[in-house]
Amino acid sequence: MTEKDTELRVSKIRDGTVIDHVPAGEALHVLAILGIDGSGGESVSLGMNVPSGRMGQKDIVKVEGREMSQAELDVLSLIAPDATVNIVREYEVAEKTEIEPPAEVVGLLHCPNRHCITNAGEPVETRFDVISEGVRCAYCETIVREDITDHLAV
Ligand code: CTP
Ligand code: ZN
Repeated sequence: MTEKDTELRVSKIRDGTVIDHVPAGEALHVLAILGIDGSGGESVSLGMNVPSGRMGQKDIVKVEGREMSQAELDVLSLIAPDATVNIVREYEVAEKTEIEPPAEVVGLLHCPNRHCITNAGEPVETRFDVISEGVRCAYCETIVREDITDHLAV
């Protein structure tokens, strides 16, 4: 069976976003980044640990009627640096974006340091620099290395 045959297990969508080439096991984190927990009524299809020619195994996330903001793409790049984001309109892939890691992530992650200025109830947006080990708070320099999606502010 070819990769194309296998992918047909997850139906094509009409309008929305297909996040492809997600590392196997990360699909639920992708949903967390999108703020999707099922309560919003979106139609979502997931493929987890499906065979991929390029990656061995991969996850794939398809969301109807939804496009991704740049901020969401920035966080996605931290957990799925090789993902492809396809915008689908009327069943056709209208745009295909290869993810690029941002230099910084603004407003989307909480700082885990309780004493950080961003946790003091001040009107300060969180700001993390993207470094090779993970992300670093621009205010208190706390580094988040793993499970970055546990720190999502959404
Ligand atoms: N897709 C979909 N619904 C559509 C069109 C495309 O779910 N109406 C999905 C395809 O199943 C595929 C992804 O969007 O997983 C990208 O589609 P396409 O560019 O046609 O596939 P490939 O050429 O295999 O993509 P790539 O080169 O990025 O691997
Ligand atoms: Zn901080």
